[in-house]
Amino acid sequence: MELREIIPDRIGFGTAPLGNMFRAVPDDQARATVQAAWDAGIRYFDTGPLYGAGLAELRLGEVLSRQPRDAYVLSTKVGRVILDEEETGARDLGEKGTLFEYGRKNKIVHEWTADATERSIEGSLQRLGVDRIDILWVHDIAQDFHGDVWLQKFEEARTGAFRVLSRLRDEGVIKAWGVGVNRTEPIEITLALEEPRPDGFLLAGRYTLLDHAHALQRLLPMAAEQGVGMVIGGPYSSGVLAGGTHFEYADASPEIIEKVRRLREITDRHGVSIKAAALQFSLAHPVTVAVVPGATKPSRIAEDLAALEEKVPVDFWADLRRSGLVSPQAPLPEGA
Ligand SMILES: NC(=O)c1ccc[n+]([C@@H]2O[C@H](COP(=O)([O-])OP(=O)(O)OC[C@H]3O[C@@H](n4cnc5c(N)ncnc54)[C@H](OP(=O)(O)O)[C@@H]3O)[C@@H](O)[C@H]2O)c1
Repeated sequence: MELREIIPDRIGFGTAPLGNMFRAVPDDQARATVQAAWDAGIRYFDTGPLYGAGLAELRLGEVLSRQPRDAYVLSTKVGRVILDEEETGARDLGEKGTLFEYGRKNKIVHEWTADATERSIEGSLQRLGVDRIDILWVHDIAQDFHGDVWLQKFEEARTGAFRVLSRLRDEGVIKAWGVGVNRTEPIEITLALEEPRPDGFLLAGRYTLLDHAHALQRLLPMAAEQGVGMVIGGPYSSGVLAGGTHFEYADASPEIIEKVRRLREITDRHGVSIKAAALQFSLAHPVTVAVVPGATKPSRIAEDLAALEEKVPVDFWADLRRSGLVSPQAPLPEGA
């Protein structure tokens, strides 16, 4: 089944920040944020065991498990099995070392084998309090988490998680599976495989207003040619585009802050909100199925939905194109 048929909406809600990313988010605030997304009509939710060692799944599940299961689309991830016992040593998340230091303290086993995939799904079902998951992403088999040995992890997943998920999809247990990463290369390699064939991908942070040139070179043309859709995660580049301070899950560099300032000069000149520019940019590529911004405050949901609906003048896109801040190959809304 094509990803577009499974996710009919153009916007979902991403729950990585609800795993206490960067800071502790009070339970009632997390609950209110998921509830705000539900009340606003959002019906696609993405989560993952990694996010606070199960915390985001628990928080999402608390709200979603009260809703009819057929009323929403749910994706989570495989590759991290959350144990009941506590972690005593330091977490090893590669470049993203301290990302979830405020999350639960449970030990995380990073493993993409067939057996770990099945255990990972069982744990997710329990934490989410649901009896099925629609989409499973094979999580973070990429260089940002594993450095030079990332291809070994990819191979572990190819011969493990990929096969289990293909079987579950063929048996109708799940609707779709794919790879969910912050890098383009693992998706390019997966697209080049004869089999197993995934149904789509979650590309995070690499097709945003701020960072998209690399994805346009090879990955997106390949995906378009094969008719494979993508969910775009991290459309605000982990916050800096929307008024936050992080880019790629770390403090934004002076160069990135300067680029955001230049983008904001153009949005301000046209009276366009930066969120509208960001979401509508990511959605303008024909390969994009939906965007999933994350948030920890109910007010963000209304902002995101307003950004999606905002009427952006065609002159804005033309001005943006002229500024050189977007790649000449990037499709812009309204054909600008
Ligand atoms: N490997 C993968 O599969 C992968 C990787 C990354 C992301 N994803 C998916 O994509 C989703 C979205 O990514 P993300 O949440 O990391 O990043 P994002 O959507 O690019 O940015 C979210 C951040 O923007 C901040 N923000 C929003 N509006 C703001 C405003 N008006 N002022 C200041 N800050 C604002 C939010 O802050 P507050 O917290 O204050 O609301 C939130 O922390 C994730 O939740 C996850 O579902 C998947």
